[in-house]
Amino acid sequence: MSTAKVALVTGGNRGMGLETCRALAALDFQVLLGSRDLDAGIEAAATIGGDRVEPVKLDLGNPADIDAVAQVIASNFGQLDVLINNAGIMIDGEGGHSSAIVDADIDVIERTLRVNTLAPIMLINALLPLMARVDDARIVNISSGMGQLCDMDGGNPGYRLSKVALNAVTRIYAAELDPARYRVNAVCPGWVRTDMGGADADRSLAEGIDTAIWLATAAEASGSGGFYRDRKPIDW
Ligand SMILES: NC(=O)c1ccc[n+]([C@@H]2O[C@H](COP(=O)([O-])OP(=O)(O)OC[C@H]3O[C@@H](n4cnc5c(N)ncnc54)[C@H](OP(=O)(O)O)[C@@H]3O)[C@@H](O)[C@H]2O)c1
Repeated sequence: MSTAKVALVTGGNRGMGLETCRALAALDFQVLLGSRDLDAGIEAAATIGGDRVEPVKLDLGNPADIDAVAQVIASNFGQLDVLINNAGIMIDGEGGHSSAIVDADIDVIERTLRVNTLAPIMLINALLPLMARVDDARIVNISSGMGQLCDMDGGNPGYRLSKVALNAVTRIYAAELDPARYRVNAVCPGWVRTDMGGADADRSLAEGIDTAIWLATAAEASGSGGFYRDRKPIDW
């Protein structure tokens, strides 16, 4: 077994997930790059190179994938130090509906909640036995300012609800898990140039992942149960 710390990143095949895998590998983590499509994951891992990044098939809509990833980590590494719940979708407005809540498509909201909120719960629960084997486990949930109740606006109800709920998930785990052994935090990356954020976004990938990497790795970073942007706590 390797002595490196082990990290799993969901949605690791593109956008901020891929950049997060790259950054963790550079910090000498053994990185499991979760990808809904394994070929896309293999291709993405090849852009990083070296032997620190291993693609794993992880479709968050498929509970069997979640169990299989937990098995792979258990047998290959025996522990998990860091889980980054990065994968996310913003699909409000699909199917001809506007993205206003007054025109909401409940199916779209439900699909969004499954990927953005419920899958992280399933994944955390499947991986907790492996995180119990390390002294300083970190769970970082990639949330959004669009899930901030203190700054709630109209539109994108599925996405907004999913991130409000992911923030609540963060607080619930932080309350249930011993903060001396597990740090569970949420982060808003800001508006970042990815497929989701678009080309006009004001932040680079490096800027977008900075706080998540800090929460996942820095010795002094944070307590548990916070919501962060730019390495500082922000209001829920
Ligand atoms: N970009 C921004 O401005 C911004 C702002 C605030 C918060 N965020 C959050 O930051 C995170 C990363 O966003 P991003 O901008 O990097 O997004 P992105 O470029 O659209 O990438 C999304 C990633 O999630 C994966 N994914 C989607 N559905 C999945 C599923 N069912 N199972 C497994 N993986 C799935 C995608 O995989 P496929 O390639 O297979 O689709 C892709 O790897 C998200 O949680 C997002 O909500 C982004």
